[in-house]
Amino acid sequence: MTSTARAYPNIALVKYWGKADEDLILPVAGSLSMTLDDYPTTTHVTLADEDHFNLNGTDQEGKVSARVFAFLDLVRDLARERCLDTANASATVTSVNEGPTAAGMASSASGFAALAVAASKEYGLDLDLRDLSRLARRGSGSASRSVIDRFAVWHAGTDESSFAEQIDAPDMAMISVPVATGEKAVSSRQGMVATATTSPFYPAWITSTEEILLEMIAACQAGDFTTIGEIAEVHATRMHAVIGASRPSIRYLNSASIDVFDEISQMRRDGLEAYGTADAGPNVFAISRVEDAQAVADRLAPLTRDGEAKILYPGRGAHLLSDGEA
Ligand code: DP6
Repeated sequence: MTSTARAYPNIALVKYWGKADEDLILPVAGSLSMTLDDYPTTTHVTLADEDHFNLNGTDQEGKVSARVFAFLDLVRDLARERCLDTANASATVTSVNEGPTAAGMASSASGFAALAVAASKEYGLDLDLRDLSRLARRGSGSASRSVIDRFAVWHAGTDESSFAEQIDAPDMAMISVPVATGEKAVSSRQGMVATATTSPFYPAWITSTEEILLEMIAACQAGDFTTIGEIAEVHATRMHAVIGASRPSIRYLNSASIDVFDEISQMRRDGLEAYGTADAGPNVFAISRVEDAQAVADRLAPLTRDGEAKILYPGRGAHLLSDGEA
């Protein structure tokens, strides 16, 4: 038997940056995101004699596979708790990522969300959405949110209470503005530790994130696009500021990213309402109303690496695929 799942990346409107617990991956503050409807990761898990991980057609070794095997250990622990005979089984994991890996496109989020769904099924666990989100969280914090349809709030808290759940929010478009490819210089994981241990602004980052999350939840529930966009842009800017204040300084945005933020400001002055955000990499995302998405994409396309600004919409949380779909 093989279990197959698909998940999409998510882009945070209130960012997660910093852990209260490194091992359990508990965040210092809650966050809120939109799950995208493209750049999927599709993952197959089959019980086997040895753990094995293949990503995009290449067998993985070292750190990359160790992280996947450590995640399988968590799944096996759950199987053991439930006295399932799969508890000692190894597995072959085969994943295909349709977005650029490790370039600020949140491939770890879609990757671990898909793995959580496929592996828990293959090992015979019957997890509800909350426990799937808690499990995905242990692979990568942001993966907890890719389990959820459309918009997700990921709660800070304990191992029990730190999961993502769906929140109502108005339809909107997320326009991807890729300005660079390639692996990022400092992983999110390392960057978070550097920020927590060396950035003097870190305490203010935590308290301001808690406050802004409440404002964002209220704006989502009120369907207030302008406030959602303003908060998303300022919160992304604060994240890059707290990161930049690390010693030695860390900078994920490059000059091409800044040009995109400038163009987004100019669009607003021209009466076209859009807001910018960026994760731990140089690529920028613009947020707009659905009816403005094409105009925003047309304005930003010339600033991209390959001339294409792709329009994305709220998408499905991680889900199993049947044989025919895979
Ligand atoms: C900048 O979820 O990749 O994208 O939990 O260490 O795996 P780990 O980190 P990860 O961090 C994502 C950080 C971010 C902001 C966000 O998605 O909220």
